[in-house]
Amino acid sequence: KNKCFILKLKETLMLIAANWKMNLGKSEIDQFSKILQSNEFHDSLDICIFPPSVYINYLNTRIENLPISIGAQNCYHEFSGAFTGEVSPTSLKDIGCKYVLVGHSERRVNNNESNLYVQKCTSAAIKANLIPILCVGETLKDRVSGTALDFIENQLIESIPSSFENIFVAYEPIWSIGTGKIPSSSEIKEMHKHIKQVISSKFNNSIKVIYGGSVNPSNVSDILNVNEVDGILIGGASLNPKDFLAIYHSTVKHLN
Ligand code: 13P
Repeated sequence: KNKCFILKLKETLMLIAANWKMNLGKSEIDQFSKILQSNEFHDSLDICIFPPSVYINYLNTRIENLPISIGAQNCYHEFSGAFTGEVSPTSLKDIGCKYVLVGHSERRVNNNESNLYVQKCTSAAIKANLIPILCVGETLKDRVSGTALDFIENQLIESIPSSFENIFVAYEPIWSIGTGKIPSSSEIKEMHKHIKQVISSKFNNSIKVIYGGSVNPSNVSDILNVNEVDGILIGGASLNPKDFLAIYHSTVKHLN
């Protein structure tokens, strides 16, 4: 069963991930789901929505007939015990999550998550049979001073467990999140290539790399035209079902 799952993952061409962050409640989820229910989906790509964790189950009941996966925005590195307020990766698996975001820059900054902490959460997610989407991204200072590639290399080396089968990396430059600014196509290409090279040379493995940071219906085609981009992680634009579906349809068009 596991083998089939891995094979299916390797066949997945593109991943569209929607990180709702701490937004949307029950009535908005109802409206969102209604619009999703009237959309036509294609199985050439994997879609995953990351709602606030308290709504994972609620969203799941609204869209369980659709080919959309559910993910969590974070998890803890232990499976059970006296860890008040934490979310266990095994509980997430239990309620139907397929993916989990780890090391999002907002958590790295607001919750002081270090690379080592992120690595522990990534390992625990893998052990619980979740697919981690490990987020990395440089600050504007690193981008401007020309140290972005080195910064990301270090983040990867310190955040990724030494052995793994299925991990996605999300390249999300911090200066691009929620700002409307995106790196040029050549900067995205250079960074995605670099991430893949680091994983190949330091971990003897291959990885899919998705892009996140101010993705919207008008810039998604240019981003997807970069060969090294295996999908996208959408924040703000994923809160509006029309924008989200416009991005989805652009991606489908791009694949055909
Ligand atoms: P925005 O798309 O709002 O820039 O957010 C990106 C992000 O942080 C997704 O995880």
